[in-house]
Amino acid sequence: MQFTEQKKELAILTVEKKTVLGIVGSPRKGGNTETLVDSVLAGASEYGAVPEKVILHDMNISPCRACNSCQKTGKCIQQDDMDILVDLMHKCDVWVLGTPIYWWGPSAQFKAFVDRWYGLDQRLFQEKQIVLTVPMGGENSNLARHTVGMMKEICNYLGMELVETVIAAGMNGKNSVKENRRILEDCRTAGLRVMRNILSRHRQ
Ligand SMILES: Cc1cc2nc3c(=O)[nH]c(=O)nc-3n(C[C@H](O)[C@H](O)[C@H](O)COP(=O)(O)O)c2cc1C
Repeated sequence: MQFTEQKKELAILTVEKKTVLGIVGSPRKGGNTETLVDSVLAGASEYGAVPEKVILHDMNISPCRACNSCQKTGKCIQQDDMDILVDLMHKCDVWVLGTPIYWWGPSAQFKAFVDRWYGLDQRLFQEKQIVLTVPMGGENSNLARHTVGMMKEICNYLGMELVETVIAAGMNGKNSVKENRRILEDCRTAGLRVMRNILSRHRQ
């Protein structure tokens, strides 16, 4: 469906209070993951979304200790920045997740963050709209399948909707993505589509 200016204005009005949370899983500041996440946020902002962004590497998020306290008390025993992040996650209906491929999988920062979901009240995840962005050095995007597959399964299991996935293959240099207009446009469109998805839910 093509968005006319009128529809776009309606969308902005309807979703203007929606905050979209970008979560960057790469330790490389201003690198490919952050650029991809920023581009999705920019697309969503065109439809009135308010962007927020966190860089996991700048936060103190300890790995899960598998002590299982959370299963008894409903709360993780570790007191770290996960509390701040969970507040933001609550506030936002759309999460733009970004992780580089490290050895076929996600980065350690991203995996530690996702592992901590184990201790959270699972109602947090219900009906969240997810955009996943994944840069990788190799040219074969099929090699991102383990990471993308992992996220698909997790989203499905926790009741989230994986609305869009953007895999950026062949991104070896820090600025590779910035030089790739097509991928940046894919991200922008993903941001736009996820807001459109939210809008259509409002109409139902
Ligand atoms: C520790 C490490 C492991 C990596 N493993 C892979 C890999 O298995 N496959 C791949 O295609 N790229 C791999 N890469 C390359 C990164 O995925 C790629 O450079 C990506 O664009 C980095 O994103 P960033 O700029 O946001 O950090 C690896 C990079 C690092 C630092």
